[in-house]
Amino acid sequence: MIDRLMTGSPDHRTGWQDGRPAEPCTMVIFGAGGDLTKRKLMPALYHLAKGKLLSPNFAVVGFAKEEFDTESFRGRMTEAVQQFAGEPVEETAWKDLCQRLYYMQGDFQDANAFQALKQLLAKVEQDHGTRGSCLYYLATLPKFFAEVVRQLGSAGMVCEEAGGRWCRVVFEKPFGHDLDSARALDKEIAKILSERQIYRIDHYLGKETVQNILAFRFANGIFEPVWNRRYIDHVQITVAETVGVERRGAYYDEAGALRDMVPNHLFQLMTLTAMEPPISFQADAVRDEQAKILRAVQPLSPEDVLHRTVRGQYGAGMIDGQHVPAYRSEPSVSPTSNTETFVALKLLIDNWRWADIPFYLRTGKRLKQRVTEIAIQFKRAPYVLFRETPVQSLAQNLLVLHIQPDEGISLRFEAKVPGPVLRLGDVKMDFKYQDYFGTSPTTGYETLLYDAMIGDATLFQRADMVETGWFVVMPILDVWKALPPRNFPNYAAGSWGPKEAQELMERDGRSWRECGT
Ligand code: BG6
Repeated sequence: MIDRLMTGSPDHRTGWQDGRPAEPCTMVIFGAGGDLTKRKLMPALYHLAKGKLLSPNFAVVGFAKEEFDTESFRGRMTEAVQQFAGEPVEETAWKDLCQRLYYMQGDFQDANAFQALKQLLAKVEQDHGTRGSCLYYLATLPKFFAEVVRQLGSAGMVCEEAGGRWCRVVFEKPFGHDLDSARALDKEIAKILSERQIYRIDHYLGKETVQNILAFRFANGIFEPVWNRRYIDHVQITVAETVGVERRGAYYDEAGALRDMVPNHLFQLMTLTAMEPPISFQADAVRDEQAKILRAVQPLSPEDVLHRTVRGQYGAGMIDGQHVPAYRSEPSVSPTSNTETFVALKLLIDNWRWADIPFYLRTGKRLKQRVTEIAIQFKRAPYVLFRETPVQSLAQNLLVLHIQPDEGISLRFEAKVPGPVLRLGDVKMDFKYQDYFGTSPTTGYETLLYDAMIGDATLFQRADMVETGWFVVMPILDVWKALPPRNFPNYAAGSWGPKEAQELMERDGRSWRECGT
């Protein structure tokens, strides 16, 4: 993956657009009737098809309980791509992909359905020359993961041949509900699959700007020398959403913001920001360094959980001038739910580079603005030369990696305000991806699907990473379970979350920065 990222092409475009077509295979989507297939997977496959990155020997089989047939599935996917591709659909590319789509209705618990699926796959292999290789994608509710793998194993559908047919299984997050269930799931699927066949997806790793954290840090000589406790005051990571739980209330009310976002997406951002340079960009070299950071996170005692974590749930409010309901009034959410829709945490990484430097993380739904960013706040310059200048005007340097929606990097520094008197002003240097590279619409899944088809696991999670992620958040889950919140809902939709999140920073003499600026 990184090779493609780093090389670039003559027109300055980088990323998966520059690769060769992926390997022949059939992609089987379990749970193809759901939102993920419509909104993300099919538009991502279309983008790959348009970029000529799918093999000519490629096909898709949707498998789900919904009553479609191949014709109606193709119609539904055509509408989905028109709605979610983010650009006008190129007829030829879509037509070519669309006639490679098949559908089979079936129940994940029905062994006969898997036998029928096996027969359909044999036919698809003959018609499209997919060489028997299969990419199974589990876009189902997590409770079906182990069952589907068991059925695939019993039906003899995951056998590989050296140098020939391969079978890989992609697991959507969340992988487990907590540490014990993640371990149990790993144990269960290891009976049938080798670790090499397992792809635990986290779509944040498919985002160009997330991958760019590595390029920014390790392809430039000037940042790494100051990337440590000596020069950095603290790091703030924000993943803020304006959307609520949409049609996912049943899942979300069980999961909550912590499980849904922190051990996966936020920890990806934190580990890529904090990790040591890997010895190469091989999958395991990068993942080893990420895993080391997770293992170095200072364990939270119950006391720490009370002081260093904040949870919130949104009440009704206004977003973009529209009234939106409270979380407890969302479809499929309990009217007395105590599930959190906002989390803020202060974590410390106990290693030589980061000792005593706080990493503040926050994420939430129905917040004021959709924005994902990593802000690196540097220590103030020694003050000696500017004695006559009021203290508050000597600002700290700030480097912000803007992940979405306005992808870019900005650096804030001090400059002399023109004039006879020595006065300092805050200025900003701004790099925007759009201005320099132009950007094509993507869902974040393109790179990941492509990588799974060529067998590159760099951007996927290893079992130990998933488990260590759960290990870090377990004390929080335990304390929160033992002490249910008494003040929910505690923030209005359209705000920046509960006031306790601000207090968490104020106790350290800091504040959350105004995102997007
Ligand atoms: C998903 C979470 O993994 O990520 C959702 O389950 C969340 O709750 C989504 O909305 C955010 O992804 P993105 O790409 O929109 O930042």
